[in-house]
Amino acid sequence: MRLSVWISGVLAIVSVTQGALLGLDYGHEFSKAMLVSPHAPLELVLTADSKRKDVSGLVLKSWKSDVERVFGSGVDSAQVKTPNGALLHVKALLGKKIDDQFNAYHRAHPGVAFEGTERDSVALKSLGGVYPVEEVVGMNLDETIGRANAMLLHEKSAMDKVDSVAIAIPEYFTQDQRMALLAGAQLPRNVKTVLVNDGLTVAINFALKQRDFPAGEKKHFVFYDMGSGSTRASLVSIEQPTNLSEPLVVEFNGYGFDAGLGGSQLTQNVADLLKNKFLEHHPTVRTEELENDARALVRIHQAAEKGKLILSANADASVNIESLHQDIDFKTTITRQEFEQFSEDLNSRIITPVLGALENQFGDSAVTLGDIESLILTGGATRTPLVQKQLSEYFGDELIAKNVNADESSVEGTTIRGIQLFKTFQTKALDVIDRSIFTYSAVFNESGTPLEVFAAGSQYPNVTSYLTPPVTNITNFSIDLREEGKIFKTHTIDTQPITKKFQAEMCPHGVAYNVTLSLSQDRLFDIDGVEAICVNNSNTAAGVFKKLLSGFETNDDEASSEGEESSRGDKIKRLKTVESFPHLKPMSTKESFTLRSHMEDLNDRDAKRLKVQELLNVLESALYDARNYLEEDDVASGGPSEEVSSLATLVDEYLEWLDGQADDTTPGELTKRIKTITSLKGKIALYLDSADEPLDANHFAQMYSNGSELVRQLEKNRLMENETLEALRESFALLELDVVKEFKKLRAPRHLSPPKHKYKDVMKRMETALANVNKFQDLKSFDDVSREKLFELKLQFDSSFEDLSKWLEFEQSAQNFRLNELGSLYGRRQRVIKKREERKNQASHSLDENFNSTTSGEQESSSTSTPLEHDEL
Ligand SMILES: *[C@@H]1O[C@H](CO)[C@@H](O)[C@H](O)[C@H]1NC(C)=O
Ligand SMILES: *[C@@H]1O[C@H](CO)[C@@H](O)[C@H](O)[C@H]1NC(C)=O
Ligand SMILES: *[C@@H]1O[C@H](CO)[C@@H](O)[C@H](O)[C@H]1NC(C)=O
Ligand SMILES: *[C@@H]1O[C@H](CO)[C@@H](O)[C@H](O)[C@H]1NC(C)=O
Ligand SMILES: *[C@@H]1O[C@H](CO)[C@@H](O)[C@H](O)[C@H]1NC(C)=O
Ligand SMILES: *[C@@H]1O[C@H](CO)[C@@H](O)[C@H](O)[C@H]1NC(C)=O
Ligand SMILES: *[C@@H]1O[C@H](CO)[C@@H](O)[C@H](O)[C@H]1NC(C)=O
Ligand SMILES: *[C@@H]1O[C@H](CO)[C@@H](O)[C@H](O)[C@H]1NC(C)=O
Ligand SMILES: *[C@@H]1O[C@H](CO)[C@@H](O)[C@H](O)[C@H]1NC(C)=O
Ligand SMILES: *[C@@H]1O[C@H](CO)[C@@H](O)[C@H](O)[C@H]1NC(C)=O
Repeated sequence: MRLSVWISGVLAIVSVTQGALLGLDYGHEFSKAMLVSPHAPLELVLTADSKRKDVSGLVLKSWKSDVERVFGSGVDSAQVKTPNGALLHVKALLGKKIDDQFNAYHRAHPGVAFEGTERDSVALKSLGGVYPVEEVVGMNLDETIGRANAMLLHEKSAMDKVDSVAIAIPEYFTQDQRMALLAGAQLPRNVKTVLVNDGLTVAINFALKQRDFPAGEKKHFVFYDMGSGSTRASLVSIEQPTNLSEPLVVEFNGYGFDAGLGGSQLTQNVADLLKNKFLEHHPTVRTEELENDARALVRIHQAAEKGKLILSANADASVNIESLHQDIDFKTTITRQEFEQFSEDLNSRIITPVLGALENQFGDSAVTLGDIESLILTGGATRTPLVQKQLSEYFGDELIAKNVNADESSVEGTTIRGIQLFKTFQTKALDVIDRSIFTYSAVFNESGTPLEVFAAGSQYPNVTSYLTPPVTNITNFSIDLREEGKIFKTHTIDTQPITKKFQAEMCPHGVAYNVTLSLSQDRLFDIDGVEAICVNNSNTAAGVFKKLLSGFETNDDEASSEGEESSRGDKIKRLKTVESFPHLKPMSTKESFTLRSHMEDLNDRDAKRLKVQELLNVLESALYDARNYLEEDDVASGGPSEEVSSLATLVDEYLEWLDGQADDTTPGELTKRIKTITSLKGKIALYLDSADEPLDANHFAQMYSNGSELVRQLEKNRLMENETLEALRESFALLELDVVKEFKKLRAPRHLSPPKHKYKDVMKRMETALANVNKFQDLKSFDDVSREKLFELKLQFDSSFEDLSKWLEFEQSAQNFRLNELGSLYGRRQRVIKKREERKNQASHSLDENFNSTTSGEQESSSTSTPLEHDEL
């Protein structure tokens, strides 16, 4: 709530579409998601058990012959039970090859097995299934979106659904990692994604919350973010332009990182300490025995996580794990001092990212440590005293701002940036300058000097085109795309379509290629298109080739082009390219389709399992409820004997079934059984409730007369409608309207919904009930007929009476409404006709002045009166 107060001051959120946006701070171990929709300004998406942060990943557990997925806080205990079921913390595995090094991951996730995919990317092999890391991301996000949509449903914005997702991404992520994250994030159906530089998310949030920046002064900050998987430091400047109507400028100016330093490394250290202690205390346990006991290692790891948190606030932490390994209870204490000594080798690494951010600057001004306003700490791991101590010692206590950010500042910043990038809502403008930390280059024909397309520090998104020097030998050629000098993608340009067309006779000065390259908002580097240009005229050497790039030899004498627009079309041909990936292939459409279906299948199975679980509970309590009911005195003695005995039989039968064979049941089967029990019980209750009713000849006569009266009223009502319309027919005809047609066009208002049973069916049931009741009226003696039979007839009658009454009510209200509408239609039509008459008169006046305007004037008036009619009616 507090959040939405400030946010409404900062961002004038005005809905443009119905879609909702999810901002995702997808951390190594934990994630946070924030939702914003036209009806719910910035709200954190809580986990199923109302936690603010969610576990990144899930755990599979066996369920009969199937697997069940566990998300959120159930993950810890599920992981202890099934270490191999852990599909956790895959962020560091995205975009990696199966033969890369994963020691740190395996140490933190004992029992987890990998398998390479067809593309040699990483998949987790778990409980007989294979789960590519992208799918794990997809399932995670899908589950989060499900919770977010449930929130929207709750908040009466059922129309809204999450359709866009902004994901914070470590800026150091490579092309492969970015493509893998996007492939996973795009698995949930119908969502658009955008990646957000996570070096800027906290800064954006900070800039918007702080707001009182002196005009015209650039302020520099370092945002130091130590999460569980990595540490990033971003040098960011924030400036309020002197013209106060211009937006704040937030500029990304430097970056340093350590992709392996973070909270999980610290946890690993505590875990290693604990392992050492255990082995020390129990010399009989051999190291490799413990190393092979995945369950024990998972428990040590979980204890280490808790221990680490305790050590953040205390000098020591006691650890107690029952029956850890070989039935040994493990009890020990670790001190902060021990932990810090053990982690000494991390000390210098803690500082390095900040130094890196100052060193690798790409802004025009060289910022020094002295220019920094403050070093703003964010990310859970910065709470570790060890980390704070190192930073304070190196940079000085005054520089460090610990209290500036709340836990949610990164996810808030991600969401705000997402709002901006998707343009879903109008926000107060914020000028964000994103810069690439890597250099992107292209190499033509596998050799030659790499052409620097977007150097480190380039703003993105950006698009640029390059023109090659003209060649006369037309052959297929390749362009390698590189990131920091490493090839990640090759395009082979297919020149077949121009080999004949652009021959030397046609293009005496050869063929030049215009290559358009882009760095997208997701910071993906690619070729957008390649055109072949036939160079035919050497008049203007300056022409097209002024943009000729330095990376190629220029041949000014020959290279030239005709400047004429008119012939351009004939001489240019767009070429197709064939992509290949020397390092890691991205996910294909086919693979993503397969994974999506698999994911959805798991969703369906989970949903069905959940539904069955719920219904089993409902049935069980209905059965116990019915059993108690049957034991009540009045039911046992006064209930309708047939129903009572059949309910008793069913209760026993179903309880037995629940005990034994209900395992493979379906929701449909359960619903049927629940309905049988409740309706039987309901019938008995009704019977007992109507114990006071006479059910005699007089009663039946009354029923007959009430029923017949209702039917008569319905008929009368319809007749009345007919008569009213007939009466109006003539007056409407005078206004050129057919009253019956107009009446038919009018719909009943939406709040009047017709009864759920069809009129025809209800009427038929009523007729049958009346016929039956009538039969019994004639019967001389009611004594011959059982009270139960009479009761049955009464129930039949009551139910059709009730349904038919609803129809009468509905028809009357709808009729009133439509007749009223008809009245106003009449009035409006009258006014329109009057206006038309007036205009006609004006038109015939001008007829005197200009002879030929008669017809056009007439047409005009009738054509304007048509839309007027539509607007008003
Ligand atoms: C200040 O900025 C606004 C918005 O960009 C612009 O319309 C206005 O002309 C500027 N005023 C001055 C004095 O430059
Ligand atoms: C876009 O990229 C081109 C080529 O690197 C560069 O010259 C240009 O300045 C860039 N534009 C921006 C806005 O950075
Ligand atoms: C054109 O290039 C191809 C492939 O490199 C080469 O085999 C061929 O000899 C070249 N032709 C001419 C006329 O240079
Ligand atoms: C690529 O190499 C071939 C063969 O050496 C040459 O004919 C062609 O002109 C080159 N293409 C480009 C675009 O440099
Ligand atoms: C050029 O590439 C296309 C598409 O890959 C291929 O069909 C064609 O055979 C290639 N041409 C030559 C001369 O290699
Ligand atoms: C190029 O010039 C030659 C001779 O001037 C002409 O025959 C040919 O049609 C021109 N080609 C194109 C594509 O205009
Ligand atoms: C190259 O292609 C780009 C994108 O289509 C276009 O904007 C540019 O004008 C082209 N350059 C030349 C020299 O034709
Ligand atoms: C018949 O209608 C009257 C008046 O609405 C009502 O008092 C009476 O209970 C009805 N009788 C039966 C048997 O439904
Ligand atoms: C009224 O009933 C008569 C006779 O059934 C029918 O011909 C006529 O069309 C009805 N009029 C309306 C307005 O429904
Ligand atoms: C009036 O319109 C008709 C048909 O459009 C045309 O033949 C005639 O010459 C027009 N007369 C005048 C006075 O413009």
